[in-house]
Amino acid sequence: MKTAPTLHTERLILRSLTLEDAADIQHLAGEYDVASTLSNMPHPYGDGMAEEWIHSCYNKYKKDKALNFAVTLRTDRHLIGGIELRLDRGNENGELGYWIGKPYWNRGYCTEAARIVVAYSFEVLMLNRIYAQYFKRNAASGRVLEKIGMCYEGCLRQHTKKWDNFEDLMRYGMLKTDFNSLAPISS
Ligand SMILES: CC(C)(COP(=O)(O)OP(=O)(O)OC[C@H]1O[C@@H](n2cnc3c(N)ncnc32)[C@H](O)[C@@H]1OP(=O)(O)O)[C@@H](O)C(=O)NCCC(=O)NCCS
Repeated sequence: MKTAPTLHTERLILRSLTLEDAADIQHLAGEYDVASTLSNMPHPYGDGMAEEWIHSCYNKYKKDKALNFAVTLRTDRHLIGGIELRLDRGNENGELGYWIGKPYWNRGYCTEAARIVVAYSFEVLMLNRIYAQYFKRNAASGRVLEKIGMCYEGCLRQHTKKWDNFEDLMRYGMLKTDFNSLAPISS
């Protein structure tokens, strides 16, 4: 069972999720500060929820609806986060979503992971457009999208209700014609 192909970057290996990842995901994604800026991350993150979610990722991959990568460190293979590409094959586009465990923030890991997934999307999946959205208060996510070369496309005011608060949603995107590959994809 697979949820994604394997991709290598300088410091990371992005690979398919397995059920053995469930405990790490529950631990890292279960942190309040990780869940708080994700529209559909459960909190508290109870037993069995990660396994259920991994199963849903298998199904989405099988139906060509999404790729879900475990983001792991090259050095010790430790899982540090997750990245998803939701596919809309009819419109040849994909939506990027990601999280990194709090102990690993601000070391460039999300940028490195997002960059290779974007490259894979344009060069291997042959998509025409990739986009992403984040809560306006989540400046770190906006910075990641700027660093990978996405353009600001607009703000959907109070678009999402998260834990009883309406959140402004910032939308960023990139077309295949905007994309300059820096290096060939290593998989
Ligand atoms: C958003 C998130 C994925 C970023 O992961 P990360 O690995 O720390 O990201 P990177 O290190 O690649 O880049 C973060 C950038 O944001 C900057 N940053 C961090 N906090 C910031 C803040 N409060 N204001 C402005 N910039 C900030 C960092 O300095 C860095 O930019 P720099 O390289 O120019 O210095 C991570 O914070 C996270 O998982 N948050 C919870 C889940 C989430 O919000 N996911 C995204 C939903 S859209």
